[in-house]
Amino acid sequence: MNARTGLEPTAMSVAGSNVIDSADQVTPVVLAAMSRAPSPRLREIMASLVRHAHDFARETRLTEEEWEAGITFLNRIGKATHDRHNEGVLFSDAVGFSTLVCLLNNGNAGATETASALLGPFWRANSPRTPNGGSIVRSETQGPVLFVEARVTDPGRRPLAGVEVDVWQSSPVGLYENQDSDQADMNLRGKFTTDEDGRTSFRSVKPAGYPVPTDGPVGELLRAQGRHEFRPAHLHFLCFKPGMKTLITQVFVDDDERLHSDVVFGVTSHLIGDFRLRGPAEPPPAPDVSGKWYSLRCDFVMEPGEAKLPVPPIA
Ligand code: BEZ
Ligand code: FE
Repeated sequence: MNARTGLEPTAMSVAGSNVIDSADQVTPVVLAAMSRAPSPRLREIMASLVRHAHDFARETRLTEEEWEAGITFLNRIGKATHDRHNEGVLFSDAVGFSTLVCLLNNGNAGATETASALLGPFWRANSPRTPNGGSIVRSETQGPVLFVEARVTDPGRRPLAGVEVDVWQSSPVGLYENQDSDQADMNLRGKFTTDEDGRTSFRSVKPAGYPVPTDGPVGELLRAQGRHEFRPAHLHFLCFKPGMKTLITQVFVDDDERLHSDVVFGVTSHLIGDFRLRGPAEPPPAPDVSGKWYSLRCDFVMEPGEAKLPVPPIA
């Protein structure tokens, strides 16, 4: 009984009132307050989020100190994010959320061969347009030469001409150009256009695996969980053509020691590339290549659908 109103606690939490008297009343009261949002999708998403978040607090018997630590963690993710670094994407990646959302929204149960993979935090819009066969090595970059041939088709194996194929990768020391003052702007990035046969090709260097940035809250989390911070070596591809669903994917270096322990859970078995080591006995693909070099062939299948570009995680 409330001394001032004379009402029983349960009578106070009547429909339309936000007055709450016990933990078990919180969820229905919050859900009711949010139920009038005009957008049905916003209603659905927020109701589910609140239900799961409240259940999470109940299930773990979350303490006030732990709640505080969680809020501090989220705030630090925001503060660590700027034009050249996206800690929010990194957090989503490191807990498998990006891969989950990617696989829920892409692929059609194996009917086509190409799967998608997470975008990651390092895609930049406006990478330099480069003619087919050109190089994405834009400043002195040590490492084994790599020649890539890619073909893009529709699900019926018909070639897709005019597909913009955006490529980005880390250097053989494991850094993207935006993380490394020794690399030229846009080094190891390029945008190609497929020819009438759906083909494009380019020259690069074999990428290396690399650690994701660990100087922020996500790094602390990985250390607290006893996890390593490495991604296996890979190339990123974003294929864009009006009328076709944008394909964002990665191709992984098959002999990388961390292929089976990607810190951001991006590897699916059919994204493991066939990187072929070519011997000095084979005709070099360019006059300046001597010794060993690598080749990679990739086949990408795009499905009809909406062509849209993601928001670039960094500028
Ligand atoms: C990347 O592949 O570029 C990447 C993905 C997730 C976290 C960090 C980097
Ligand atoms: Fe990457």
